[in-house]
Amino acid sequence: MSCTMDHHVTALHLCFTFMFLTCVVTSTLAIEERKSYIIHMDKSFMPDAFSNHHSWYTSTLSSLSSTDGVVATHLYTYNHVLHGFSAVLSKSQLNEIESMPGHIATYPEAFGQLHTTRTPQFLGLKKKVGLWPAGGFGDDMIIGILDTGIWPESESFKDHGMPPVPERWRGTCEIGTMFNTSNCNRKLIGARSFSKALKQSGRTLANSDYDSPRDYFGHGTHTSSTAAGSHVLGAEYFGYAKGIAIGIAPRARLAMYKVIFSNTTFEAAASDTLAGIDQAIEDGVDLMSLSLGFGFDPFFKNPISLGTFGAVEKGIFVACSAANSGPDAYTIMNGAPWITTVGAGTLDRDYAAIVTLGKGISTIKGKSVYPENLYVSGVPLYYGHGDKNKKNCSQQSLDHTEVSGKIVLCEFTNDSNVDDQRTELNRTGAAGAIIVTNSTQSLESYQFSFPFVAISLSDGEKVKEYFANTPQPTVDIKFQITVLGAKPAPQVADFSSRGPDRRSPWILKPDIFAPGVDVLAAWSPNNPFAQVEEDYLSSDYVLASGTSMSSPHLVGIAALLKSAHRDWSPAAIRSAMMTTADLLDNTNGVIIDMASGKSGTPLDYGAGHVNPNKALDPGLIYDIEVEDYINYLCAINYTRQEIAAITRRTNYNCESANLDLNYPSFIAILNNTYTTKNTFKRVLTNVVDSKAVYRAKIWAPAGMKIYVEPSTLSFEGKDSKAKFSLYVDVDLGSYIMQKSYIGNYGYLSWHEVSGKHIVRSPIVSAYALKKSN
Ligand SMILES: *[C@@H]1O[C@H](CO)[C@@H](O)[C@H](O)[C@H]1NC(C)=O
Ligand SMILES: *[C@@H]1O[C@H](CO)[C@@H](O)[C@H](O)[C@H]1NC(C)=O
Ligand SMILES: *[C@@H]1O[C@H](CO)[C@@H](O)[C@H](O)[C@H]1NC(C)=O
Ligand SMILES: *[C@@H]1O[C@H](CO)[C@@H](O)[C@H](O)[C@H]1NC(C)=O
Ligand SMILES: *[C@@H]1O[C@H](CO)[C@@H](O)[C@H](O)[C@H]1NC(C)=O
Ligand SMILES: *[C@@H]1O[C@H](CO)[C@@H](O)[C@H](O)[C@H]1NC(C)=O
Ligand SMILES: *[C@@H]1O[C@H](CO)[C@@H](O)[C@H](O)[C@H]1NC(C)=O
Ligand SMILES: *[C@@H]1O[C@H](CO)[C@@H](O)[C@H](O)[C@H]1NC(C)=O
Repeated sequence: MSCTMDHHVTALHLCFTFMFLTCVVTSTLAIEERKSYIIHMDKSFMPDAFSNHHSWYTSTLSSLSSTDGVVATHLYTYNHVLHGFSAVLSKSQLNEIESMPGHIATYPEAFGQLHTTRTPQFLGLKKKVGLWPAGGFGDDMIIGILDTGIWPESESFKDHGMPPVPERWRGTCEIGTMFNTSNCNRKLIGARSFSKALKQSGRTLANSDYDSPRDYFGHGTHTSSTAAGSHVLGAEYFGYAKGIAIGIAPRARLAMYKVIFSNTTFEAAASDTLAGIDQAIEDGVDLMSLSLGFGFDPFFKNPISLGTFGAVEKGIFVACSAANSGPDAYTIMNGAPWITTVGAGTLDRDYAAIVTLGKGISTIKGKSVYPENLYVSGVPLYYGHGDKNKKNCSQQSLDHTEVSGKIVLCEFTNDSNVDDQRTELNRTGAAGAIIVTNSTQSLESYQFSFPFVAISLSDGEKVKEYFANTPQPTVDIKFQITVLGAKPAPQVADFSSRGPDRRSPWILKPDIFAPGVDVLAAWSPNNPFAQVEEDYLSSDYVLASGTSMSSPHLVGIAALLKSAHRDWSPAAIRSAMMTTADLLDNTNGVIIDMASGKSGTPLDYGAGHVNPNKALDPGLIYDIEVEDYINYLCAINYTRQEIAAITRRTNYNCESANLDLNYPSFIAILNNTYTTKNTFKRVLTNVVDSKAVYRAKIWAPAGMKIYVEPSTLSFEGKDSKAKFSLYVDVDLGSYIMQKSYIGNYGYLSWHEVSGKHIVRSPIVSAYALKKSN
């Protein structure tokens, strides 16, 4: 889902405006087309006359010639994410800039899209033991969220009992439409809005969106409250999920950087997003979460990978959504190795309706989030059994006189048809429906605008059998039921994007997964979320799904870990979460991939499901320095200019180019071959205050030989390090015959001798993406 800007619209729009002013007078004057660009500069070329690079850029822009009298418009100067600026320029003005000394690279504007509460308990967070108290509930941590804005009046952003804002904080609350400084408090300590580039692109903000940090959509309110919302009693979604809503790091501070605005869809411009990241670094956030993506551009063009390098370099932990383009392989976005890339999974909570066939013959539980407390009893059941189209309730197939006032059974056709079926049922006056679907979990809460319950294929067979054997079949349906302790959970959500990463398959992605299906969190109450017939319903809390929801969970946990371990780098925090992640679900089975209904693999879930309490005490960590990331960029053969764009270092020599980052996971890529031999070198650091000895345990699947040297590692006290090499020989043999083969995997675990720590890493072999894709 890469996005292209409609440049022609921009040009025409400018031309029309301009024609009325001047073109009429001097018809020979040609108006040049203008676009916005991100320009990378080498600061060392700045003439001495300038005191800072901002004045160098603005002075340069105002000196550019113009054939049509339109001056270049400066948008942003960037300090941390890159050295350079963004501006709206004509082609000739751009040529002038590109021929100036110090110019490194130019990238045209791009657009990105969103990856759109019982969670703390599900994750095992407890008030008195483990990571919550150890991490002071996120005390003194500042989380920056780049999103659609925030609804500051939400109960989730009340600051009761919070100490004053940390003195080191340099952020502020910007004044704008329906937003001013009094909307901030000790919980929401910063809020800014970045829309210059989006407006310059010719898109005007939708009338209903706010030209300020206020959230029109609700998405940013949801992600913020998930990461660090305060404790709120009595949150619910139309009677479902009733209980306490609380963020993962309830004492952490929030700063919103609004970069996503609504026009016909919700979009973020690359130069606005870069400005948001730049400002978050400047303001002093400790962690950042981004739940949006800019397609599959290489790291030096993608504003998220480019911008967050500068953040990680300053010790800021960055979590990003993996995208919602699963379940196919190679659908990961935000897979840069300095980012923690988060997939989405289910919770142990179901929203249900109970169907009773006849007078209690049998009951079936299905998924429903229909937003009304509805109980229908003894309603005739309709099933268009003779007719294929009536059976699957396809468009224009049902007859009002046959189905009006009845509950209609609609067969599974394919999961994308549920919306069409719902429309057809509503059109013909059905009282409700039982919809058979292949994956009940993947239906989102807002889709339940009609009283229906989604049941599995096997339960569908039961209903059909009842219908066939009963002269006057009837059903009862009870809606608005919340089931706790649902099993098996977690499962990998079908939509969650899968690895490997297209741009850099040599690092296993996603890194980890976290809750992202039907997550209850705060919402903008002005934006209706649900619908019942013609009525639009609003709610302060809603159930939303997406990797957008899993990234803020992870950043909340990272805030707790950083609070408990102030000296840990972003890579150390990620390592702690990855090496202690869960591979088993709440039935003690291997975590299931919802898309296949079978066991998932590390290409679906990375190192596993995040386990906060275990991450607090990982024993050992795999750390990574900024130079290692640069050596990685060298090894993937980026040019000097491309590396400079990301790192702002123009004099870096790539003598130590190395694909083998000190990562807590391993992946071997098979490129047009059945066999490959790989050597990985790693360094482990002891993060415990005592001596320790660890022994390697290997679990290797058929087709993979794995050995480690040495197989015993000894550590003196805290911070002592030990090296090892891991050899992975892949020979797929008979596996190659399986058409569906994507990858193969095993594990390396370091077990502490007479101790409790286990440090586990997945080892994957996977096919390279074919060029044609
Ligand atoms: C800020 O907005 C609130 C309403 O949202 C209003 O009551 C208050 O007077 C405003 N404050 C300032 C300084 O404009
Ligand atoms: C989106 O921007 C276009 C171009 O400026 C404008 O015509 C349109 O009305 C905007 N859409 C909405 C929903 O405001
Ligand atoms: C319903 O089923 C028929 C026959 O299998 C098929 O041709 C038709 O495309 C289906 N309709 C929908 C909406 O899937
Ligand atoms: C499922 O149905 C949708 C909508 O009718 C259609 O666009 C899509 O191609 C179908 N997918 C499959 C796999 O049949
Ligand atoms: C249901 O049908 C009514 C009119 O028949 C229409 O106004 C309404 O928008 C429909 N609702 C949905 C969810 O399609
Ligand atoms: C349901 O999904 C599974 C897994 O994707 C697939 O194997 C099965 O064929 C599907 N069933 C139908 C009826 O399409
Ligand atoms: C980078 O270039 C070198 C030299 O041409 C080549 O050996 C290596 O395979 C390339 N690396 C990647 C990741 O393409
Ligand atoms: C696979 O090999 C081709 C051709 O040598 C090369 O262009 C491509 O970069 C390789 N892919 C990976 C993932 O190594």
